Amino acid sequence: MRRELVCLRPSVPAALQVRQTPLPEPGHGEVRVRVQATSVNPIDARRASGYGQRLLSLKGAGRFPLVLGNDLVGHVQALGAGATGFAVGERVFGLVGTGRRGGAHASHVVVPEAWLRPAPAGMAAAALAVLPYAFTTMWQAVRAAGLHPGNAAGRKVLVLGAAGALGRLSLQLLSSWGCSVTAVASAGSAAECQALGASMALERGPAVLGQLPDDFDVALNFASWDEDIALASRLGTTALGQATTVHPLLGHFDRLGWLKGALACQHDKQQVQAVVRQRCPTARYAWTIFKPDAQALDELATRVAATRISLPVGLCTGLEQADSAFAHVAAGRPGRAVLIP
Ligand SMILES: NC(=O)c1ccc[n+]([C@@H]2O[C@H](COP(=O)([O-])OP(=O)(O)OC[C@H]3O[C@@H](n4cnc5c(N)ncnc54)[C@H](OP(=O)(O)O)[C@@H]3O)[C@@H](O)[C@H]2O)c1
Repeated sequence: MRRELVCLRPSVPAALQVRQTPLPEPGHGEVRVRVQATSVNPIDARRASGYGQRLLSLKGAGRFPLVLGNDLVGHVQALGAGATGFAVGERVFGLVGTGRRGGAHASHVVVPEAWLRPAPAGMAAAALAVLPYAFTTMWQAVRAAGLHPGNAAGRKVLVLGAAGALGRLSLQLLSSWGCSVTAVASAGSAAECQALGASMALERGPAVLGQLPDDFDVALNFASWDEDIALASRLGTTALGQATTVHPLLGHFDRLGWLKGALACQHDKQQVQAVVRQRCPTARYAWTIFKPDAQALDELATRVAATRISLPVGLCTGLEQADSAFAHVAAGRPGRAVLIP
């Protein structure tokens, strides 16, 4: 049998229950993984409260009861027809997309083999389980803002929310690409940001962005939609672009419905885009939305194999104690929470 963590109804705190269901069978190109570890990301804590229901219903992922979670580490247990990339028993890690089949907070998960990579021997399951979703989203933001390994060396990058999971991963990635990264981060985390690769690190505060120079090539917002315009005003006249993961897309559709939600998104996006274009007419502006990405997983697999990327783990717990993991993440406590099913 499979044990899955079910989010019963929209609620704060999350209304969670462990249920038993028959083992899922892998389809074509899929494998079934016996899960060792799966993480709780901020989106899980928010979705447990009902956030994102309207738009995610388009993917079949809006209706409760829900199984949440996008990250997994485990052992391949069964292969579907045409799945040839992994052997039964092999240790893997990777992603579950957001969709009607539910997430990774379970003892067994069926996943397309395209979203799995070999897990490096010796790396703890919890340490690996906190990486795929955050790294993929960060990677998509970096690429959407116009940066890639071929053009990154010497670029000035401004990261808002640098001490969070996406921020920490961006510092490690971008410093290795030769970028000069300015980090704006939580109180007390400046030294840590510098140790992770930031050239300069400042503590967050109302006036901080205004004090920075306005010559950045790239701006990444992993922290606060309210500061997206202020962030854009720091771009230089030859900037590549800005990307934000904290846009109001899901929230607007939840609150305003389809038509007004779409209009509010268009209005808000155009407002920031206008500032970005004012700074540099060719600069890009993107609202990043997570989706599984083969290139991001390849890059992550290379980096974990070389032990060149990591995130702190704050809490590990079983499915039965998942309440504490969701509370940990909802409260923004340091380090990710990991479920050991
Ligand atoms: N669009 C998508 O598909 C997608 C996917 C993944 C993540 N996200 C979102 O992207 C954001 C970052 O994700 P994450 O996993 O890195 O979250 P996280 O680990 O919770 O980190 C967020 C960080 O932002 C900091 N912060 C908040 N307001 C700030 C401000 N005004 N200035 C500077 N720092 C500030 C927080 O610091 P404090 O601790 O001081 O509050 C925290 O360190 C989250 O909001 C997440 O929900 C979106």
